[in-house]
Amino acid sequence: MKLIQSPSKLNRLVHQLKRKGRRIGFVPTMGYLHKGHLALVKRALKENDVVIVSIFVNPTQFGPKEDFKRYPRNLKRDQKFLKQVHTDYLFAPTRRSVYPKGFREFVSPGPLAKYLCGPKRPGHFQGVATVVNRLFQMVAPDSAYFGEKDYQQLRVIQEMVRRFRLPIAIKRCPIVRERDGLAMSSRNRYLSTKERIQARALYQSLLKAHKLIKGGERDAGRIKREVRKFLKPYVTKIDYVEISNPSTLVLVKRVKGSVLVTLACFIGTTRLIDNKIIKV
Ligand code: PAJ
Repeated sequence: MKLIQSPSKLNRLVHQLKRKGRRIGFVPTMGYLHKGHLALVKRALKENDVVIVSIFVNPTQFGPKEDFKRYPRNLKRDQKFLKQVHTDYLFAPTRRSVYPKGFREFVSPGPLAKYLCGPKRPGHFQGVATVVNRLFQMVAPDSAYFGEKDYQQLRVIQEMVRRFRLPIAIKRCPIVRERDGLAMSSRNRYLSTKERIQARALYQSLLKAHKLIKGGERDAGRIKREVRKFLKPYVTKIDYVEISNPSTLVLVKRVKGSVLVTLACFIGTTRLIDNKIIKV
C-alpha cells in the first residue's frame, strides 16, 4: 500500500489510472479504523480495480465544544489494517491542502440537514458536504462508499451528488456491529468499561422499536416514548429519538411502509448515534 499526502501527486496518479481505464473506488474516513470501515474497504476492493482510502480528521465538521482535539488518531495502526486487506492507496492530506488559507468555498448541505443531528450539531453537515466534495474533486472516483451507521450523512452526500450532477456512484453499506449489537465507531474508544456495557442499550432500544412495530404499533409518538423509557436508565442524556421517512428524513406521525428510527445519546461525555430501518 502506498501513502500519498500531496493532492497534486494524487491527481497525477488518478490521471494515469484513468488513462489505463481503471475503475477507482474511494472510501473517505477520519481514521482510527475498525471493522465497520474495513467492510467498506473490502467491498470497494471487490467492485473496483483500484481503491483509495482517505484519512482526514476534518476540523470543519466539529462544533467548538466537540471532540476535534481529542478525536483518536493513529496513522501507523491504520496503515497496518489497510495493508492487511490489500488497500492500494492511502491518501492522508494535510489540513492546509484541504483548506488553503482564505478558503471560503463551503458547500451547503441542503434541506436534509434540517433534521435529526442537523439542529443538534450546527454546521456539522456543511463541514461534511464541504470536505467530501473537496475529496471527491481530488480523488475523482467512479464509486464512493458510505456506511448506514451515519445514515443522515449518507443521504446528504447522495443529495449533493445529485444536485451537483457528480459522476460518482454512491454505494451504501450496512452497519457493522459488535457482538452485543453496539454499532462500531471510533468514538467507542472513549467509553469506560462501565459505559461500554451501558452503550448496549442503544441497539437494544432499536430492537424494542422493531418489536413494537412488528407487533402492530403504528403510533410514532408511542414508539418514541417507549424507546426513551428503555434508554433512560442507561444513558446520561438523550439528544433525540426520532422516526422519519428514510428518504426525506421528515418525521412521521404514523408508521407506514419503511421508517427510519434514529437516536443520539450521551453516555458520560461521549455522543453515540445509531439507527435502524424498519419495514412494516
Ligand atoms: P468516519 O466516522 O471515519 O466514517 C467513515 C465511513 O465509515 C462513513 O461512511 C461511516 O458511515 C462508515 N462507518 C463508520 N462506522 C461504521 C459501521 N459501524 N458500520 C458501517 N459503516 C461505518 O463519517 C466520517 O468518518 C466523516 O464524516 C467523513 C465522511 C470521512 C467526512 O469527514
